[in-house]
Amino acid sequence: MDMSDLPVPCTPREISQLVQRDRVHGSIYTSQAIFEMEMRHIFHRTWLCVGHASEIPEPGAYRTTRLGTQSVIMARGSDGEVRVLMNRCRHRGVALTETETGCVRRFTCPYHGWVYDTTGELKLVPDADAYGRGFDLSAYGLTPAPRVAQYRGFVFASLSPEGESLDEHLGPAKAYMDLFLDVSPLGEIDARAGVTKTSFRANWKFVGMDGYHPNYVHKTVYDLRRRRKPVGSAKGESFSDESANLTRDLGKGHVMLDVYPVRKANYASYLQSMSGRPGWDAYYAAMVQAWGQERADEILVWAGDPHIGVFPNLQLIGSQIRLIRPVAADVTEVLMFPTVLKGVPDAINESRLRAHEAFYGPASQGSPDDAEIFERNQIGLSAVVDPWVLLARGLDREKVDVDGSIVGTITDETTQRGQLKQWKLLMEQAA
Ligand code: FES
Ligand SMILES: [Fe+2]
Repeated sequence: MDMSDLPVPCTPREISQLVQRDRVHGSIYTSQAIFEMEMRHIFHRTWLCVGHASEIPEPGAYRTTRLGTQSVIMARGSDGEVRVLMNRCRHRGVALTETETGCVRRFTCPYHGWVYDTTGELKLVPDADAYGRGFDLSAYGLTPAPRVAQYRGFVFASLSPEGESLDEHLGPAKAYMDLFLDVSPLGEIDARAGVTKTSFRANWKFVGMDGYHPNYVHKTVYDLRRRRKPVGSAKGESFSDESANLTRDLGKGHVMLDVYPVRKANYASYLQSMSGRPGWDAYYAAMVQAWGQERADEILVWAGDPHIGVFPNLQLIGSQIRLIRPVAADVTEVLMFPTVLKGVPDAINESRLRAHEAFYGPASQGSPDDAEIFERNQIGLSAVVDPWVLLARGLDREKVDVDGSIVGTITDETTQRGQLKQWKLLMEQAA
């Protein structure tokens, strides 16, 4: 089927045909009409991660963000509850807050002064008499997102009043989210260390979960690491066809770069190298005390880093919570929140933050190169004489693992296929 001259706009069913078993049509990354369909049928329908409750610990604390294209406020009310409220005054629809974070006693609309409390209730309307006697303030509270649910502090919302529960949506991803949290002996993180923000002129679907690129896009970094430390980060060990590391498609679009095998092989030497480092021995003892020897070692082999993409907008990589905010077909914002661990020596958290800055900071070794390659990808896809993108890597060698996940080698495109399979399914369901 030649879809190089795809009619625009087209139906969700036609769009779903753009994702084939081994290839996808480049227009899924470039077409603004398809982007708008993605917003309607994916971002405005499925569960999205809004943030982590630890960002807003005290009553009145809030973060402003977007669910797809819609502005929302994640706020902790005076009653201690975390809500996701549409950032839209019930009078004429003005955004109540434009600052990204803050802590308030009330939200006052800048246009005509309507006042809402931190639970979203409308408390005051200037000269309310003009609305007549029957005017009921309680009917004009801020509109909550239709569904909100949490998993261990991760706040999710869906703009659809119906659909599967968050529990069903996350499925096997929960065990990997647990790893990210349980690398704290208290099982708790704090996401208030700040945020590394980046925006680039490329499609949101390029972000993350590619085990094929590190040796090329990040060549300088890996060359440097190999010179400093020959074992553990060498090309053959982590990101090549010879590597024992894996890619996994967990289902529902959740995918991961499973770097457990190489870390496991190097765990004894890793422990040896960490012993005596500032804070490490106390931290290791606290982990064993909290989780028992076996589970503590398991979590530490992973280093609390599941490197998972929870479809469609959350990724947990290293110490960071990464949120992906699509802006347009060719514009994306990525927010990376480095987290610190509760119940650990300061030195452990300091090294987490320094490691984050080194690879994901604005002048770091990693992220800027990723943004650069995404922009080049977008430029390349503007050439549509031959519009298909090949995603067949490892297709014939992937297997179904005992846990039901589809598994490939670390350089295989099992992850991209897994994400786009869910993308296709949601488009087909909308048809
Ligand atoms: S639009 Fe908010 S008070 Fe008028
Ligand atoms: Fe990268």
